[in-house]
Amino acid sequence: MIDKSAVARCFGKAAASYDQHAVLQRLSSDKLLGYLPGLSNGSKAYASTVDLGCGSGALLPTLAHYSESLIAVDLSFGMLAYAQQHHQLPLQPHWLNADAEALPLQSSSIDLCVSNLALQWCDDLAMPLIEVSRCLKQGGLMLFSTLVSGSLNELTLSWSSVNEHRHVNRFLSEPEIKASLLKSGLSVESFQVEIQTMYYSSVKEVMQSLKGIGANHVHNKDARPTTRGELRAFKANYETLRDNQGLLPLSYKLAYCLLRKC
Ligand SMILES: C[S@@+](CC[C@H](N)C(=O)[O-])C[C@H]1O[C@@H](n2cnc3c(N)ncnc32)[C@H](O)[C@@H]1O
Repeated sequence: MIDKSAVARCFGKAAASYDQHAVLQRLSSDKLLGYLPGLSNGSKAYASTVDLGCGSGALLPTLAHYSESLIAVDLSFGMLAYAQQHHQLPLQPHWLNADAEALPLQSSSIDLCVSNLALQWCDDLAMPLIEVSRCLKQGGLMLFSTLVSGSLNELTLSWSSVNEHRHVNRFLSEPEIKASLLKSGLSVESFQVEIQTMYYSSVKEVMQSLKGIGANHVHNKDARPTTRGELRAFKANYETLRDNQGLLPLSYKLAYCLLRKC
């Protein structure tokens, strides 16, 4: 089971540094919004939109532009508070501190739900999708991105010979994600997977890229602290991955899904 309050605490702590480190998240949200129908004609295409796991609120200005009403949902109160203070929006969103797996929203009340890189933090991907399906009106859309197994492989590889503890969260495989889509009852309009590799000059920067956005909580981590020797061995392993430009890669495998309630 995922410790949701620990996840919320990590993200809340990182709220002020999030935007500065959220490079992958911005690449992902730009790509994700490209899948959304109705953004080109400039009209308010959606009566009611939810940003699920809104974080610091980076998607809110775009969503506010195309929606008549907006609900910003996040598990982390700290993230919601940051988002509320740092965006001047053309409409006032409803701020909702809630878990995507138990949405306090009325059934058949929303037209669009967008979720960028948040649902990999849920216990069971099918749960938020079933919840969103319940809340969508007939014909409504769910557009989300999530991480697929293979993400952060460089970290997994570098820890693998050091000890057997869990240092990296497990991500669902493509078939597991597809099984969750099926359980939601929503119909799949698009499903794309791509690999995005980020590059850093030091192992410290690699780790900072995760901590800076609050994505450093490891589920069910061994209580024994990592020793200095283990950390040194991990860093030495990671150093062997430097490419011919002298940079250290960190790979993400992203799934982009557009679903419709028929
Ligand atoms: C990597 S951030 C992405 C934020 C934002 N969507 C973006 O594109 O920048 C993940 C966000 O999901 C939120 N989150 C994690 N688990 C959640 C859950 N079960 N329900 C709602 N939000 C959740 C976190 O608090 C965090 O703000």
